[in-house]
Amino acid sequence: MADQIGRRTFLEAVGAVGLSLVLPLGVAGCGRADGVDIAGGGQLPMPPLLEGELQGGVRLFRLRLQTGAVDFGAGAPTATYGVSGAYLGPTLKLRRGERVRIEVTNALDETTTLHWHGMEVPARSDGGPYQTIAAGATWTTEFDVTQRPLTAWYHPHQMHATARHVYMGMAGLIVVEDDPGTPALPASYGIDDLPLVIQDRRFFADGTHPYSNGQHPAMHDMMAGLKGSTILVNGAVVPRGVVPRGLTRLRVLNGSNARNYNLGFGDDRGFLQIASDGGLLAVPVAMTRLLLAPGERAELLVDFSADPTSGVVTLRSYSGEAFAALFTGQMGDNLADALDRGSFDVASFVIGGAPPRALSAPTQLEAIARMAESSAVRTRQLVMSMRMGSVFINAARMTELASVPAAISYDIPAGDTELWVVSNTSGMAHPLHIHHRQFQLLDIDGVAPPPALAGWKDTVLVGPNRVVRLLVSFAGVADREFPYMFHCHILEHEDDGMMGRFFIVQP
Ligand code: C2O
Ligand code: CU
Ligand code: CU
Repeated sequence: MADQIGRRTFLEAVGAVGLSLVLPLGVAGCGRADGVDIAGGGQLPMPPLLEGELQGGVRLFRLRLQTGAVDFGAGAPTATYGVSGAYLGPTLKLRRGERVRIEVTNALDETTTLHWHGMEVPARSDGGPYQTIAAGATWTTEFDVTQRPLTAWYHPHQMHATARHVYMGMAGLIVVEDDPGTPALPASYGIDDLPLVIQDRRFFADGTHPYSNGQHPAMHDMMAGLKGSTILVNGAVVPRGVVPRGLTRLRVLNGSNARNYNLGFGDDRGFLQIASDGGLLAVPVAMTRLLLAPGERAELLVDFSADPTSGVVTLRSYSGEAFAALFTGQMGDNLADALDRGSFDVASFVIGGAPPRALSAPTQLEAIARMAESSAVRTRQLVMSMRMGSVFINAARMTELASVPAAISYDIPAGDTELWVVSNTSGMAHPLHIHHRQFQLLDIDGVAPPPALAGWKDTVLVGPNRVVRLLVSFAGVADREFPYMFHCHILEHEDDGMMGRFFIVQP
């Protein structure tokens, strides 16, 4: 019954937006026509919450990168990778002020890495492409948790294989717990504080996908980024979760390789965004749509207190409404798929019992000191472009670890604040991610960022023909051996070299 409803809603959604208009593109090989349709409506899985164990003042986590097989409903099981499980990984709960040790055992038969996206850690702990973990090896890394409470995530960063490793299923959330004394927010994991890892997949009827068996997607999918018509949340197809009849916190990660989501509820109810990538915003921002690019996180407060018990609320992506901000011209038209032009279900929620704590939404969150443009000691231009079937930053590509063109390899004295002027001359939007430091947007096309983008960010979506100026202060420990990365978070673009690096050096 639930399955039928999920499927019908999905088909109606896509159909209603004009399937006839977009069908020719799909038939041409880019989009839903390539994959099978899978009915959703199963239970929303909750990634296990891992608190680690204190050993001599250090909090120890053990993670195992392993193979698995999962039946997503395609018609046959899918071969997967997972972190301490068959698909995705546990949520790591960290506490500010603590020291953390993470032992990552690679039980796969290939080399990979594990990167802490959004975390400020020494370069040699960052888990980027320079810190590989060979098959069978264990990588042990340690760092201090210094950041404000936030939702971050982890995923592999293996050179030329990041997209495949994430697509196979390696990713998970990191939560730095709320500070005592800050406004009371829902914080009962899995009850009124729900992680939502959103991914799209393209499954074939035999359970394979374009990255199965070490394969590579076709040229068109490398350019558009690999997108599919099956939406997974926490590893299940358009699942149904239970929320309390009260204030609920959703920690949303766009863990997709390439797809943007323009999230909203089926009944168009308003909700509050309380945090961006780097933690709490200054004040909750009321909205009905949340545009979330690959790599970005947002924490939302949704009020279900006026809903009837057992009522059902759907979470959808109204992608078509954001189309003009994401795609432009002939190139954009070619790179968009049917879902980019339409709207579709992502998940649904059944209203359950009373919340663990009766809370009302705070009106203030946390003061954020705005960085001043005058604090920047230098300016860098980053031009993102696409041509001849490839993707570039400053007309350069990072195609190997050893020699990186100067246009995308920077030495930055520790403590310097820089102004990065990021522009996009291609026909599609690119999410730029900078490792290690949370940054602030100064302006977008000369206009101050809207409140939801005025907090701390580590990933920013740069639309076609737009110019985003951001301020970033490179605090950290100087290290000549290991760099940090910056790159487009469309993982096919990252793998194709739309990436650069920086070393924090002695001032
Ligand atoms: Cu989320 Cu360099 O990555
Ligand atoms: Cu990162
Ligand atoms: Cu890109």
